[in-house]
Amino acid sequence: MSFITVPSAVTDNSTLSSYKSVDLEHTTLDLSINWDDKILAGSVTHVLKSELKSVVLDTSFLKIDKVEWQNKVVKHDVADRDSFRGSALTVRDIEVGVVGELKIYFSTTKDCTGLQWLSPEQTIGKKAPFLFSQCEPTHARSIFPCFDTPSIKVPYKFDIDSKYPVLVSGTRTVGSKFEQKVPIPSYLFAIASGNLKSKVIGLRSHVWAEPEIVDSCQWEFEADTELQLEAAEKLLFKYEWGSYDVLVLPPSFPFGGMENPNITFATPTIVSGDRTLVNVIAHELAHSWSGNLVTNSTWGHFWLNEGWTVYIERRILGQLHGEPYRHFAAIEGWQDLENAINVMPAEYTKLVMDVASDVDPDDTFSTVPYEKGSTFLWYLENLVGRSVFDDFMKKYFQAFKYKSLDSFKFKEFFIATVGDASASVDWDAWFYNPGLPPKPQFNDELLRVCAALSDKWTSPANVKNSEWKKWASKTDISGWHPLQVIVFLNLVTDKLGAIKTDANCASAIADLGAIYEIGQSRNAEIKFRWLQLAVKAGVQGTKEALAQWIAEVGRMKFVRPGYRLLNEVDRELAVSTFEKNKTFYHAICRAMVEKDLGL
Ligand code: BES
Ligand code: ZN
Repeated sequence: MSFITVPSAVTDNSTLSSYKSVDLEHTTLDLSINWDDKILAGSVTHVLKSELKSVVLDTSFLKIDKVEWQNKVVKHDVADRDSFRGSALTVRDIEVGVVGELKIYFSTTKDCTGLQWLSPEQTIGKKAPFLFSQCEPTHARSIFPCFDTPSIKVPYKFDIDSKYPVLVSGTRTVGSKFEQKVPIPSYLFAIASGNLKSKVIGLRSHVWAEPEIVDSCQWEFEADTELQLEAAEKLLFKYEWGSYDVLVLPPSFPFGGMENPNITFATPTIVSGDRTLVNVIAHELAHSWSGNLVTNSTWGHFWLNEGWTVYIERRILGQLHGEPYRHFAAIEGWQDLENAINVMPAEYTKLVMDVASDVDPDDTFSTVPYEKGSTFLWYLENLVGRSVFDDFMKKYFQAFKYKSLDSFKFKEFFIATVGDASASVDWDAWFYNPGLPPKPQFNDELLRVCAALSDKWTSPANVKNSEWKKWASKTDISGWHPLQVIVFLNLVTDKLGAIKTDANCASAIADLGAIYEIGQSRNAEIKFRWLQLAVKAGVQGTKEALAQWIAEVGRMKFVRPGYRLLNEVDRELAVSTFEKNKTFYHAICRAMVEKDLGL
């Protein structure tokens, strides 16, 4: 049985592999974790049929020891590096048109960007080392030789030997063996190992973490996970992967979450003690349909993964907390979109991006595909009406599950499904215009109080005459949802220009933080907004506080803008903080910050 989809007409420029001339049926990884030398070593077996005598695979900083075709050693060569695309591994003398086993013996090296090896000191418990992977978008090739493109998908078997508990993106069969029966693209391969314990968080879910934090992780997620899964199933169809677990990683994990099948990887910064950042879990579990069942065929069509996922995430939140909440989350998203469009090159503010062979997909990454993509789907929903859209959505995910597609297939399917209702969509404008799309009509019920309070704080008279000392009190924000605090802080930051030159500006903002008890928040999203605002306003001691915080969290969402801001206000502090802490960061994060700081 072959799971191969006819490769999409769009070519993936981010791979060097010969994916278009092979039919891949199955992949097996047999690996052992060598903790002393920080090496993953073993073999990968690809069951495939090739149209050509040569098969080319992606590798990056891997050491290739031996290649076999049907159990016989065959010739191979590893080309020089081609930037982020790595070193093409060419295997010759493959029988054409025959399904056979291509087995490659290899090991990783210290340069492999997809893995981070943590010393015991870098973990929370400080007792054992820790290893985790992050493959999306193009780092799977630094863990095993593969066809590293989201356009082809296969089922996997894994056998992983480690002296510590192991998790992979599949389900355990026996002992050290796992399988992933659903065909997945290479970027969804994941592995983690370390001192891990698990606790139940739902009917089909466990949370995994170091023992020191596993109870607080359980509390954070146990109220929402199953309800979110059920909400998604109601919107789409049954969850097809079996169990859904969450792994909370040490703080250097570079993302908020990563939708590895069966085992979402998450940053500890979402364990805020108030259960308000569980939208990240809603997002990652929504990927079980958008991205993991139905996958973008190249990184230029990334909005099909992330725009859909944000759309579904907010539909889940709407079901659980009401439609105004969904609108409010979209308003916050719109703020992020405006900010991203201001800093990203115009090409990468298009929904459909041209990711050429010399463009590293990591460099095109921003919130644009997330928010512009979900805004497009929001627009389509309003155009055709909720019930027609929901019918389309169910059909779309059923039709394309186990497959990869591009935006043109999406368009074709939408038009075929909704018919005349789609006549007015300006597809080219949505796909190719850079910058902001038309702004949807949001319900501003929850926004109004945030906007009014931010206006009060940023009125020039308020600051000039120290008026806030008379009116401001904790009750101004009592009963607010933490998301409203975030939006309020964003708004004050946006309007800071109106008061920035006033001599009282820093003391007004310092008092804002103190009166609302924002400065001490454990909620990382609030803490981040606060530190950005306070540093911009010149509040004493806050640039040092920001430097200290980004030395402790490795999540790029905070670390990159954090360094960019420090660089503006105090380059020396930015550079010295980075130099002191760079071994703490994940290789991807380190590389991005180096670029941001021009090092
Ligand atoms: N798939 C992404 C993370 C990602 C994107 C990793 C591109 C590597 C390359 C994940 O689903 C994600 O979007 N995470 C967000 C969560 C948020 C939007 C709720 C994050 O990390 O902040
Ligand atoms: Zn996502």
